[in-house]
Amino acid sequence: MKIAIIGTGYVGLPTGVGLAELGNQVVCVDKIAAKIEALTQGKVTLYEEGLEELYLKHLKSGALRFTLDMREAVNGADVVMIAVGTPPHPVTKEADLQYIYAAAEELAAYLDGYTVVATKSTVPVGTGDEIEAIIKKVNPAADVDVISLPEFLREGFAVHDFFHPDRIVIGTDSRRAREVMRRLYAPFADKTEMLEVSRRSSETIKYASNAFLAMKIHYINEMADFCEKAGADINEVAKGMGTDSRIGRKFLNPGPGYGGSCFPKDTNAMAQMGRKFGAMLNLIETTIAKNDERKLEMAKRVAAAVKHNPEAKIAVLGLAFKGGTDDCRESPAMQILEKLLHYNRNVTVYDPQAMENARAVLGDRVSYAADPYEACAGADIAVILTEWENFKHLDLEKLKAKMLQMQIMDLRNLLNKEEVCRQGFCYSCIGMKN
Ligand code: UDX
Repeated sequence: MKIAIIGTGYVGLPTGVGLAELGNQVVCVDKIAAKIEALTQGKVTLYEEGLEELYLKHLKSGALRFTLDMREAVNGADVVMIAVGTPPHPVTKEADLQYIYAAAEELAAYLDGYTVVATKSTVPVGTGDEIEAIIKKVNPAADVDVISLPEFLREGFAVHDFFHPDRIVIGTDSRRAREVMRRLYAPFADKTEMLEVSRRSSETIKYASNAFLAMKIHYINEMADFCEKAGADINEVAKGMGTDSRIGRKFLNPGPGYGGSCFPKDTNAMAQMGRKFGAMLNLIETTIAKNDERKLEMAKRVAAAVKHNPEAKIAVLGLAFKGGTDDCRESPAMQILEKLLHYNRNVTVYDPQAMENARAVLGDRVSYAADPYEACAGADIAVILTEWENFKHLDLEKLKAKMLQMQIMDLRNLLNKEEVCRQGFCYSCIGMKN
């Protein structure tokens, strides 16, 4: 099939690359000339495990192309996927749909033959109706079905998740559109649940899923606070809870609060929708407020650990919003760091992938290190803020030799407490008596 993808971000690009690997002809279109130029020349514009290799393969084979020209992408396409951003409005926190509507208006003029326009971006319930109305207004003769096709790709694992989806949700009542989607996703038919639902249900499923996962994280963080007071160990408690298959082990890792481009945005948008429809979503409202508070609490915790020394050097390990990505958007690490800079100016940072993105925000307010050991050289405390796999395997002997004071605050519970303490470090983590 010929597929057009509008938007080459964390959703559009991995989706385009994945669909090319499935044997489709994919044209990705974006408004940012520098991005299209780089992508045309073989320079991948974002970090995703396994993405570059597949992208180069299909750029070379010709199955994957990039353009600034909407007409070139949409003309003759069987499916047009909208994968542009829906950033939160700075005040109301509602999803800002201007890029979605602009894309719908622009693509409408170039539709020819029967086309499925699928919304991949996370959009409030009812947006599909709006997109359909825009397209019909611009091009009344268009033979088109507008469907909701939510993405469930985790950043950092987008390529893996594309090829191993838990489910594919197809939101439309149109039999023709369902048929096209069944053909497109036929390679997954045997191993993946295909849910065919109404467009509004599909739009809701995406928000309801992300809000539930955010609440699950908030819940385990609240339990961690409880364990600290009650003398229990959150790692043991989470393991005990997770073995109940109704609860599940995943998303029970306590931390400094959730972040990223999805959970904060989607929980806020969902809460806003609840208010709009007059169906208050109290659990979600509380989750949002408590998750924001948590980051301030964590910054205070770090500041308190070195309060006796205003000149203390703090080594921050991890800046990305989670491990496996270079993305710092709504990163708890960055938000904690910003707050920390109010108390202490002597901070050195290190992240395996996110240094460039972090530098664009932090500028010269912090020092940058080439590895965790350089970050910790002469430090009074090392603070782990992102769940990078390689932080679990820090060489403690080496760290010991570098640090001024042997103090580690592990806000992701990555390290083995006994081992770290045995090495003589003063160690604190989340959800247990320290
Ligand atoms: C999320 C959804 O998981 C994905 O299905 C959706 O399509 C996009 O949004 P993503 O934002 O990439 O994916 O990150 P995710 O892995 O869900 O983590 C989000 C945040 O929660 C991160 O800050 C992470 O560190 C935090 N988290 C996650 C925890 O603190 N504890 C956990 O147990 C899991």
